[in-house]
Parts: sequence; C-alpha cells; structure tokens
Amino acid sequence: MKPQLAESVFVRACRREAVPHTPVWYMRQAGRSLPEYRRVRAGVEMLTACATPDLVVEITMQPVRRYGTDAAIFFSDIVVPLKAIGVDLDIKPGVGPVVGTPIRDKAGVDTLRPLEPDDVPYVTEAVGALTGELGGTPLIGFAGGPFTLASYLIEGGPSKNHDRTKAMMYGEPELWHSLMERLGAITLAFLRVQALAGASAVQLFDSWVGAVAPQDYRTYVLPHTSRIFAGLADLGVPRIHFGVGTGELLGVMGEAGADVVGVDWRVPLDEAALRVGAGKALQGNLDPAILLAPWEVVERRARDVLERGRVAEGHVFNLGHGVLPSTDPDQLARLTDLVHEASAR
Ligand code: CP3
Repeated sequence: MKPQLAESVFVRACRREAVPHTPVWYMRQAGRSLPEYRRVRAGVEMLTACATPDLVVEITMQPVRRYGTDAAIFFSDIVVPLKAIGVDLDIKPGVGPVVGTPIRDKAGVDTLRPLEPDDVPYVTEAVGALTGELGGTPLIGFAGGPFTLASYLIEGGPSKNHDRTKAMMYGEPELWHSLMERLGAITLAFLRVQALAGASAVQLFDSWVGAVAPQDYRTYVLPHTSRIFAGLADLGVPRIHFGVGTGELLGVMGEAGADVVGVDWRVPLDEAALRVGAGKALQGNLDPAILLAPWEVVERRARDVLERGRVAEGHVFNLGHGVLPSTDPDQLARLTDLVHEASAR
C-alpha cells in the first residue's frame, strides 16, 4: 500500500492507531440516493454498469466528490463474481439479485467453478484507474459473505426467512459445507483481485447472516468466513466484517479474523465493543432512517454514536446499514462535516 494510503485517517482507524478525527464513509453511498448517479445509470443495466470501468470509476467517485468521505466504496455488487463464473442471474430494479436456476443439489453446487482474475478484468481495470483518481483517499473493495450469497443462490432471489437456505444448512450439512467452501473460495479470490489491484481495505458484507443463531453460526458459517479472512492476511489491508441483525453474533463474528467489525444500529457501540472483544476496531452505526428526520435529530444521534464509539479501540463512523434511496444527499453532506468537526482532536 502507498504510504499516503497506509497513513490515511481511515486505514489508521481500522488499525486502531491514533487519528486526528473519526473517519466516515457510508455503506451504499454510491448510487440510488444521488441524482448524478441516476443520470449516468439511465438506460444502463446494473450488471452492465458494473462491467464498464469508466462508469464504475465515475459512480465510485460521485459520493467522494460530493461529501468528502474518508473512503470510497467500489461500485459493484455482491453477485458480480457469481455472474463472472457463469451463474445465470440478473439484478432486477427494486427487487435485487434474481437467479434463473437456483442451486439446491450437488449438481447445482458443482456448476460453481473457481473465480480466476481473468474472469473480472473490468474490476482490475476499474480499481487501478480509481487508485489514480482517488489520490490519498482509500478505496474499499468488497464481496458478499458466503451465507448471504448462498441465500440468493438457494432461494433464487431475496428472501425474508431464508427457509430453503436453512433447510439445506440443517438438513444436508455436507451439501451446505461444499456450497459454502466454493462460495468462500470465490469470495476470497474476488477480494484478492481488488486488493492486488490497489484497494486499501476490504469489506465482507454478510448482510443476511443475522438470521442464524450463534451456535449455528459457529458450525455452519464461521469456518468459511475464517478461511476468507485468513486468506487475505498476507496482503496487509484492513478487513471489515459486517452483517445486519448481528447483535447476538458480534462475539463469534469477532473470532472470524477481521480487523474491524461493522455493527448495525440495534446495538450501541459501547455495548458492541464489549461483545466483540479486545483487539478490534468498530464501524457504525447510525440508523439510516434517522437521516429522514430533521437535522437536529440527526445531529443529536450522530453525536451519541461518536461518544459511544470512543469506547472502541478504533472507530470508523458509518450507518448501521446502507443509505436508503429516499435520503436527501444534503443530510449526508452535513453529517460528514459534523463527524469531522465534532470528533477533531
Ligand atoms: O455504495 C454503493 O452502493 C456501492 C456499491 C454496492 C451496491 N451493492 C450497488 C447496488 C454495494 C456495496 C452493494 C452490496 C450489496 N448488494 C449487498 C450488501 C449490502 C447490503 O445492502 O446489505 C447486497 C445484499 C446486495 C444485493 C443487492 N443488489 C440488493 C439487495 C440490491 C437492491 C435492489 C434494489 O434495486 O433496491 C441490489 C442492486 C444494487 N446494488 C443497486 C446498487 C446501486 C441498485 C440497482 C440500480 O441502481 O438499478
């Protein structure tokens, strides 16, 4: 990593080093809520946009230019590596990823081949171009966590209760583990491509893993997530691990090997620090819906997040989940300034 990036406020906070102010970025900061995003995306399908480096660079830069966040999140999607190895899937606007032939048996699992860097040349190209454009601002690469990817593949699309996913997990553990092994290897390869091309950190979005109880996480998910984080260790980039509804999982997630644990809005950061344990930075965790309230409310609640975040060994300010599409970008601009000013030391 370039020294300028290794010494950036964001990377230092991930490493639990002293920082001049709390760094801030927002999950799903690129896209949806930005008019300049809707303009460049008009008439371009989501997965086409993800495979077009010029567009990826532009969309990734948009929130950084507008807000002055301390990090950029790569514009892509968690299903991009699956599409790249030939899975028949699409992203339907307003719905999410939809899979043509859901994976529910051994023959299905066997169709998932390993991901090679040559499968995603547009990712390597876009990350490379972005590191130039971004200068001293770190780029965060990302991938979907194995449980979340498995759920989309098994259910065939978004799911409320993950019924079929859990049916396989509990009922056919061997098949489950072979699916998770393949997804874990694809995820690791995808994260390595981004880090080797110049991303300064990586985040694993295991968004829906909060559906699993702690003891089941330990049996059915932890071995796979641990292998992903261990497989990144040699690259020296901070590793962030995030899921939604993970209050009961924070302890066991802390064991998986990430440097930073992302916390949703349900657990205050001072309490989360106790649950995650020593030796980790925390990321989070303003409820994204608070941004829909008047500024005075946003300010009061953001100050509370900063205050509680001081208990953690390192704190990266973020929302507790992604920016909601109806968010007024001006609220995020004000919030970014507030975090920088209120945390200056
Ligand atoms: O800041 C960013 O937005 C960076 C890029 C990003 C996208 N998806 C772009 C996107 C990131 C980090 C993601 C991650 C992602 N994708 C997750 C994990 C984060 C989370 O929200 O929990 C998940 C679960 C997905 C799967 C997915 N892709 C969903 C649920 C959706 C939303 C469907 C919809 O239209 O509401 C998508 C599509 C998607 N991914 C969009 C964007 C900008 C919207 C598509 C569009 O603009 O047409």
